[in-house]
This record gives sequence, C-alpha cells and structure tokens, in this order.
Amino acid sequence: MNPTYYYLLHLFSLFVLTAHTFMAFANPVPADKKKTMMITGIAGLLVLISGFGLLAKLHAGTFPGWVVVKLVCWLGLVAFAGVVYRRPHLRDKLSFAALSLILIALVMVYLRPF
Ligand code: HEM
Repeated sequence: MNPTYYYLLHLFSLFVLTAHTFMAFANPVPADKKKTMMITGIAGLLVLISGFGLLAKLHAGTFPGWVVVKLVCWLGLVAFAGVVYRRPHLRDKLSFAALSLILIALVMVYLRPF
C-alpha cells in the first residue's frame, strides 16, 4: 500500500486518540468511560498499525531508537484515558504528561536524535 495512506491513518487516528483522551481529562464521568475506552483503544491500535506500516514501507529492516521512544510515548498516551476515570484528581498531571509525550514523539520523528 502507498505510504501516504499510512500517513493519513497515522495522523487521523492520532488526532482521534488525543481528542478523546483530552475529553476524558476534561470530564471524567463514569457514564462516558465505556465509549471513551472503546474509541481510544481502537484509535490507539490504528496509530500503532499505521506506525509499523510506515516503518515497513519507509525504513524496511530497521528499528531505530526514535521509534522505540515513540512506542513508549504511545503506550503512555493510550493508557491515560483509563487512568483518569480511576484517579480523576490526577487529571492536571495526566494532561501535562500527555502533552509532554506528544511533544517528545514529535521531536523524535522530526529531529531523529537516535
Ligand atoms: C504519541 C505517538 C505518536 C505521535 C505523536 C506520532 C507522530 C508522527 C507524525 C506527526 C508523523 C509524520 C512525520 C512526517 O510528517 O513526515 C509520524 C510518522 C511516523 N511514525 Fe509516528 N507518531 C506516534 C506513534 C508512533 C508509533 C507507536 C510508531 C510505531 C512504529 C510510529 C512510527 C512512525 C513512522 C515509522 C513514521 C514515518 C517516519 C518517516 O517519515 O520516515 N509512530 N509520526
């Protein structure tokens, strides 16, 4: 498949994941938990699949350090919506941590320090 489709899927699912994670931070009521977990779970999976699709298409046979760091950022971002429903008092800290992980992932892909 053309890597452009992977780019589109990667970025679109990333926007969906980020938007719904921050919606959970803004209003972590138990009534919304199931829907948010479903949407962030599916979007998170699509970010991962499209990320590995891009890796296979553009950097075949390699597993650079910046991808490892992105994987760690992804893991945190996917987990945070679930955490905020159990610990709503942590939402400010989780929100700061989520923004930091997104920034680190962006620095990794654009600057590639490793
Ligand atoms: C917080 C999570 C993530 C963010 C914010 C993020 C962000 C981005 C962005 C903005 C691009 C497009 C770069 C461009 O314009 O050329 C990109 C590309 C890419 N991402 Fe991610 N990503 C994340 C997670 C992942 C994961 C989990 C993987 C796993 C393999 C991955 C692998 C890649 C690859 C291989 C590319 C293509 C790099 C290239 O153009 O050579 N990303 N990512």
